[in-house]
Amino acid sequence: MCGIVGAVAQRNVVPILIEGLRRLEYRGYDSAGIAILNAGMERVRSVGRVSDLEARAREMHAIAPTGIAHTRWATHGGVSEKNAHPHFSSRDGVEVSVVHNGIIENHEALRARLLGAGYRFVSDTDTEVIAHLLHSHVASGLKLFEAMQRTVRELDGAYAIAAIRVGEPHTVVGSRRGSPLLLGVGESNPEGCENFLASDTSALLQVTRRVAYLEDGDVVRIGTDGYSIVDAEGKPARRPIVESQLSAESIDLGRYEHYMQKEIFEQPGAIANTLEMVTNASSVSAGLFGAEADEIFARTKHILILACGTSYHAGLVAKYWLEAIAGIPVSVEIASEYRYRDSVALPKTLVVTVSQSGETADTLAALQHATTLGLRDSLSICNVPESALVRQSRLRFLTRAGPEIGVASTKAFTTQLTVLFVLALVLARQRRRLAPSREQELLAQLRHLPAAMNHVLACEDAVRHWANRFAPKQHALFLGRGVHFPIAQEGALKLKEISYIHAEAYAAGELKHGPLALVDRDMPVVVVAPNDALIEKLKSNLHEVRARGGELFVFADRDTLIEPSDGINIINLGDHAGLLSPILHVVPLQLLAYHVALVRGTDVDKPRNLANSVTVE
Ligand code: F6R
Repeated sequence: MCGIVGAVAQRNVVPILIEGLRRLEYRGYDSAGIAILNAGMERVRSVGRVSDLEARAREMHAIAPTGIAHTRWATHGGVSEKNAHPHFSSRDGVEVSVVHNGIIENHEALRARLLGAGYRFVSDTDTEVIAHLLHSHVASGLKLFEAMQRTVRELDGAYAIAAIRVGEPHTVVGSRRGSPLLLGVGESNPEGCENFLASDTSALLQVTRRVAYLEDGDVVRIGTDGYSIVDAEGKPARRPIVESQLSAESIDLGRYEHYMQKEIFEQPGAIANTLEMVTNASSVSAGLFGAEADEIFARTKHILILACGTSYHAGLVAKYWLEAIAGIPVSVEIASEYRYRDSVALPKTLVVTVSQSGETADTLAALQHATTLGLRDSLSICNVPESALVRQSRLRFLTRAGPEIGVASTKAFTTQLTVLFVLALVLARQRRRLAPSREQELLAQLRHLPAAMNHVLACEDAVRHWANRFAPKQHALFLGRGVHFPIAQEGALKLKEISYIHAEAYAAGELKHGPLALVDRDMPVVVVAPNDALIEKLKSNLHEVRARGGELFVFADRDTLIEPSDGINIINLGDHAGLLSPILHVVPLQLLAYHVALVRGTDVDKPRNLANSVTVE
């Protein structure tokens, strides 16, 4: 969701800005633009792909040592060139240009004030108020760095901003609150140095690995003479420079057609990496979650899981595990609901946030809300080590899935599940609910999980065959029971987000309480049907569907009790994986969504209207 790149160097930064935007494409966007600074300022914007922007920049021979760039995911104002960033404010010989991620909540009040001061608005965005506000401070005689400090004091909401102005060459300033922004420290030589700003490290890997994560409220100035940072109080601040471990290869597509396909097939490796510290040990220990974990887990009486989307589904699965294995009551809440709900905070609650990006605005706000209610024990299960969520949590377990670039989350989900399962084991062990022999048995199953998943991935051809039959449909139902109900929910989410087929998931026992009315011969029904304790119950539900003419597409285990027949299609995945079964059963659902989307010709990695990292509310 929206991406920022800023660059100052003693060479042409246009290729650096464009390449940075290309590497941020995965976050989701609908328009893009750059502004460059020589003696004057120039801008090029386009609706659509970064490649279109690049072509336009080439046509106008854009060359400059300083610039800012942006991919926009529309929030305020439709998708159009006039709403694309950068936004300009130009009056009385002062010209500034601004890019922004996030939402300015008091933009209406600021707009009214700025209109009164004679500023003219040409876009429908909230960002334009930042441009005019910054302009007003520069016009009053402040340098760009001071003007930005003054500007952000007047903004309510979430933002990451970068700006340039005519008359201050080799200077970009930025600020962040609630939206990510980092500083990239580039090469230096006797003539000077180059420095960068970006929404995430991947945008800068082409020029530097040395990055500093800005804190909420920081304002930064980068130039060819170095950089400086002040904190929210305006005091000089130092932020540690770290060497990013992200490898350029991990964001290459390699032999795959799409990132989603690559990421589905990376799952066995991602799980093995995530489990490295667990499977090499002879038993699970609280220390895996951080130094304070033993003490915090010992006092935990209740768990509250907060997350959005796919990560929320991981939380729903975890509830079954945590209650069954560790005997701890668990609530799972959609972060965007919890943050605004009057809820009762139970003492001794461990708040667990689950997030791929660690920057999801609702999940961050939900964690902060829980803290204000007095719930201070927090654990983040997250894929991005330097993310805000990880930094704001007392305990953490990093999923080592590597960058997830496809918008539809896949390997992040299965690695989150893996960690949540380990959490259940750790808590069970601490509460003496896990006999050593059972612990060894479950650890052995975890060690086998990557191999078992490779086996499941071999069903791709059979799934591809099914996909051709799904592609013409407008609707689909997904059924599951028990711990596999959230897996059915995840399967439905995957199908709708990338193939645009309307899909709903139901706990199979709920069918006869309403949704059965939808079932006819045009309604494909996907069933998650492992050989677990509920299989006989599920079979009865399948009869209910067949009796109404619905066609069943069943993902079952090797020795399934469900017989294939007319209207009952079955793919056997392998041996039943016991408690770990949900981690395997989601894989064919990911493959189904992927192949249906391919047949329907949608933009698999960048589905319409969606973004990878949801940094606004
Ligand atoms: C779906 C998907 C989203 C995310 C959700 C939360 O495929 O990717 O539903 O799961 O936006 O994002 P994170 O996990 O980054 O907090």
